[in-house]
Amino acid sequence: MKTKNSKKYFARARKVLVGGVNSPVRAFKTVGGGPLVMARGRGSRLFDVDGNSYTDYCLSWGALILGHNHPEVVKAVKSSITLGSSFGATTKPEIEIAQLIAKHVPSIDMLRFVNSGTEAAMSAVRLARAFTKRDKIIKFDGCYHGHCDDLLASAGSGVAGLPASSSEGVPAGHVRNTFSLPYNDANELGIVIERHWKDIACVIIEPVAGNMGVIVPDMEFLNTLRQLTKKYGIVLIFDEVMTGFRGNLGGAQADFGIVPDMTCLGKIIGGGFPVGAYGGRADIMRHLAPLGGVYQAGTFSGNPMVMAAGLATLKNLTPQAYKDLNRACDVFTRGLNLFLAAAGLPAHLVNYKSMVSVRLSKDPARNYADAQAAAFDRVYAKLFHGLLSNGVYWPPANLETFFVSTEHAATDLNRLSGQIRKFFVQSKP
Ligand SMILES: Cc1ncc(COP(=O)(O)O)c(C=O)c1O
Repeated sequence: MKTKNSKKYFARARKVLVGGVNSPVRAFKTVGGGPLVMARGRGSRLFDVDGNSYTDYCLSWGALILGHNHPEVVKAVKSSITLGSSFGATTKPEIEIAQLIAKHVPSIDMLRFVNSGTEAAMSAVRLARAFTKRDKIIKFDGCYHGHCDDLLASAGSGVAGLPASSSEGVPAGHVRNTFSLPYNDANELGIVIERHWKDIACVIIEPVAGNMGVIVPDMEFLNTLRQLTKKYGIVLIFDEVMTGFRGNLGGAQADFGIVPDMTCLGKIIGGGFPVGAYGGRADIMRHLAPLGGVYQAGTFSGNPMVMAAGLATLKNLTPQAYKDLNRACDVFTRGLNLFLAAAGLPAHLVNYKSMVSVRLSKDPARNYADAQAAAFDRVYAKLFHGLLSNGVYWPPANLETFFVSTEHAATDLNRLSGQIRKFFVQSKP
């Protein structure tokens, strides 16, 4: 594998970009080695500046469900850009995509586009606080909702112990109102809500966790969450930035039949461009300016080119496309798991639709503590580099989810399956 050009460009990047990257997870910190500098993508393939090509399972961290440069998306973007790049006013594509989203996502009557998932979660929390006139929020350990101060909190000790900030630079006051609870634990959730409900504005959750590897929560936990939040007038926010439009048009909420009060979206709805959105019940959304008193704005929000790319993406996500993609991922995961179990190897795969992750343990993870206990960074790094040198680009960090697009062929997944089997048999972790 040639890396001369990547090394050369990355050395330059390091001098002007912090750590050579614009988002920390790109820096290969947990897997080691030098990050690759990418040049172009097509379908399921990604090409670096040395001309190496990879089957891409990172897919811009889940944004590219149709793969790179899908012809319909490219066409939509090209025709949009000839009309002008940004108007700072309402345009037709943003109305059309908003209608499409509201039609399919059960919780969304009205929505607001923003420029990232971070903005969506931050703004949804603000709106929930205004709506309930309460300050405290609940999130879950291991879930990620972007880098807004109030959401960069990790668990304190014991039930509802004082939370710690998970980043320097976040004043204690910003996380003082945040409870970070264990995922999938209806009991702890119940205790905290019963004790503090008068102060709790919202609960925000990834309805399927993707940021600690894939964890599909128990239905009992989700049902309890919905019942308790309804009972105590707490706004339930599903952060579907990753799961939205991933496995079906309605998101995990449609899949599970649980309708939250608000939903955050991002990634796929921008067709590969920067985007976020939050929406929900009309009586909540009406508190947002210009209708209500909650301020939130954006120069580029609802940018026409982004909306055109997102719209073209959603229009290409047919029921058949989802069916084929989801089935291919189920077959891939099941096949590998049968093999790993039969060989007695301490690893398994877990998928939710086309979100997949490898767990370095025999037992499934139910929460962040389990996920961390099964995160053997050295083994993951070896697997990552073994795959990379064989033309597979995976997320360069343990506990991330990898993604499959509609452009990945059965032969891609078969090859990946063979490579993973070989790794585990040879390295005997
Ligand atoms: C569930 C979830 N919420 C929010 C975010 C933040 O989105 P963005 O990176 O667009 O700010 C992410 C990013 O990966 C995410 O996975």
